[in-house]
This record gives sequence, C-alpha cells and structure tokens, in this order.
Amino acid sequence: MRALVPGTFDPITLGHMDIIARAAEIFEEVIVVVAASEAKGPWFSLAERLRLAKEAVAELPGVEVDSFDGLLVQYAQRSGSRVIVKGLRAVSDFEYELQMAHTNRSLAPDIETLFVMTSAQYSFLSSRIVRELATFGADVSGLVPPNVVAPLAARVAERTGEANHRQP
Ligand code: PNS
Repeated sequence: MRALVPGTFDPITLGHMDIIARAAEIFEEVIVVVAASEAKGPWFSLAERLRLAKEAVAELPGVEVDSFDGLLVQYAQRSGSRVIVKGLRAVSDFEYELQMAHTNRSLAPDIETLFVMTSAQYSFLSSRIVRELATFGADVSGLVPPNVVAPLAARVAERTGEANHRQP
C-alpha cells in the first residue's frame, strides 16, 4: 500500500525523518509530498525544499519525494495513495491536525489519515524552531539531516544581508 507523508518541509528536520522512516517500515511505498504553501512565506523555494527532502531520504528504500500545489486529497487520489501519515508531537498539534483530518475526510472519505507519535527526542522540534535557532547562530546539526546544515546557514546569511540592505 502507498502512503503520503505531507508537509511544508521548510526545511526538512530529523523530526520529519523519524516519521518518514517509520512510515516506510509499515507501507511498501511512501511519497513525501512537499506542499507549495506559498501563503506561509517559506524560507526556501519549493524547488529547494524538494531537493533537500530528496537528498535527505535518498537512502530510505521505498521512499520517493514529490511536490504539490492545491488540495492534498486530490494529490492522494491522483497518486493512488489511500493513507496520509502525519506526526503528532503534543496536544497542541492535535486540534489543528484533527481539523485537517476531518476536512480531508469530508472531501475524500476513502482516504484515511493515520497519526504517528513523534519520537520523544524530537517532540519539541519544528521547522520554525530550526529556522529560529539557525538565525541566532545555534548549532542545528543534531536537528536536521546533514545535507540541510549548509543550505540553512547560507539562507540565514542571505536573509541577514537582505535585512541589512533594507536599513536606512
Ligand atoms: O508542515 P505543515 O505546514 O504543517 O503541513 C501542512 C500541510 C501542507 C500538510 C497542509 O497545509 C495541507 O495539506 N495543505 C494542502 C491544502 C489542503 O489540502 N488543505 C485542506 C486540508 S485543511
């Protein structure tokens, strides 16, 4: 059976990798789907997020990466995926995830959302936290796949340059 692991992946973290690897142990095929999420004003372009995710999962058997813009359930139907796998870190994730799961189910009752509890060591981790830590120069090498470290530092440097450039 084929399952999707969707997200904005801005950038992909070890928390995401934990969920993807565990999904790949259960399902024959897993597609990591990178949402355009332009409304979220992502740090990395869709092409960069896709590339970083592809590099990060390259060694995981049965895992592919793709991108989509639009409704996730439409992508699921197009790709013949019956299951959406989401990670749950804490109660704070639950309300939003429940709302999305119900919305997706009302749109496509044949597609099931399954929740996996994030491993305790990553229960605090999010792409937003990683971006914030990187902005202030913290070492994020224990939080993101190795291929993400340099592009993240480069993006921080670019953004700092852009901000300085804007100073009067
Ligand atoms: O990593 P994120 O940003 O929490 O992922 C959220 C994502 C991309 C999975 C979610 O926003 C999504 O599915 N977006 C596609 C639009 C959609 O299908 N919306 C209906 C469900 S509310």
